[in-house]
Formats: sequence, C-alpha cells, structure tokens
Amino acid sequence: MLYKNASPIIVIDGPAGAGKSTAAREVARRMCLPFLDTGAIYRAITLIMTRDRIPAIDSSELRERLRGFCVSFSDRRVLVGGEDVTEAIRSPEIDSAVSPYSALPAVRESLLEIQRSQASRGLVAEGRDMGTVVFPNADVKIFLTASPEVRATRRYLERASRGETVSYDDILAMVNQRDEIDSQRAVAPLKPAEDAVIFDTTCCDFEQVVNRILDECLRKR
Ligand code: DC
Repeated sequence: MLYKNASPIIVIDGPAGAGKSTAAREVARRMCLPFLDTGAIYRAITLIMTRDRIPAIDSSELRERLRGFCVSFSDRRVLVGGEDVTEAIRSPEIDSAVSPYSALPAVRESLLEIQRSQASRGLVAEGRDMGTVVFPNADVKIFLTASPEVRATRRYLERASRGETVSYDDILAMVNQRDEIDSQRAVAPLKPAEDAVIFDTTCCDFEQVVNRILDECLRKR
C-alpha cells in the first residue's frame, strides 16, 4: 500500500483489551511498517521502578532512574539495558502497578522522545495518547474500544492460553480499574483524538478489525 507520505504514521489508541496490539501488529506487517507497542515501554519503566522499590510518586529518585532508562525492541522482544524483559512486563504485578506510574507527568515526558524517535521510517503505533499527544499529525488515527466484559474475556483467554491460572472476575476488576486511572489522569488521558475514527470491536473478530483499519488507511492515503 503506497502512501503520498513515504513514512506514514498510523496510530491506534484505546483501552486495555480492545485488541490494539494484535490488530496493530498485523496492520504493520501488511503495510511493511515498523510496529511500536508503547504500553510495553510503560510496562518496562514500571518493572524497573518496582524492582528498585521506587514508588509511583514524583521524586528525585524516580527522575534519576528515568534518565538512565534505555529500552529497545528486537524481534518482538523488549530489552531494557540489554536485559530481555518480554515476559516479565506481562505479569499480573505489572498489570496492577503500571497505571499509577503511567499517570506521572515526569514519566510521560521522559518517554515522549523515545516514542517519537521510532517513527523515522513511518510506523504503526498503539497506546493511549498516540493520536492526542505523541503523534498529533499522524496520517491515520483509530480509536478502538469494546465493552469491558468483552475486553476482560479477551485478556482472560490470552492469559489462559499461556497456561496461567486466572480469574475472570479479577481481570474484569483490573480492566475497570485501569480504564478509570488511564482516562481520569491529568496528563495525556485515554481519549480519542478529535480527528480519530472510533471503532467499537465488541462484535468483531480479529480479521474484521484488521480489515476495518486497513480500509481507513486506504481511504486516507
Ligand atoms: O496497552 P497496555 O495494557 O500494555 O498498557 C499498559 C499501561 O500503560 C496502561 O494501563 C496505560 C499505560 N499506557 C499509557 O499510559 N500510554 C500509552 N501510550 C500506552 C500505555
């Protein structure tokens, strides 16, 4: 798919479990563009902070740790300072700790440049504030959503398929709690950009979601 812009920026925002990651990854593959999972970066920061017992409040300790933070991606793996943290950042502990760290302005500021620096060859980026803050001039902006119950079911199945013992009720509570913190925070809250296409995936399967996003990319090119 050729764009007027040789390095198109496609952004996909939405709440936890809306299907952003899998859809964005597939759209990136079909469009031969790099894929950026910005949630993984917030999770990696959270892992480092919780390991070092630095609480989710603005402090000189936290800012110092942010200055030394270095994340990279290689073959679907997430590396922090050379350590492969791909599995560690998906643990239930990180799930429940990530939103408070993500709400801190110091954390968000320090990650802005890291995210933008990934876009030199164009990209498909997914997160919460891609269309509103990180890439306000993106070529295509999509906001994916789905009912909390459907999103919790997707997360439940994902976890169960990895062999984890999980409770649907716990996951639903966690999804609701993260939605609340992510959308109520003062800086870069979860919300659709004014020029985003809002797409409710409650009744859609994976292929329908991907095709709908690709249609939008075709329409805008
Ligand atoms: O997409 P995810 O579940 O991996 O994201 C984990 C957390 O990171 C999410 O609860 C909010 C935060 N996040 C954010 O604040 N901004 C982003 N662009 C991406 C994620």
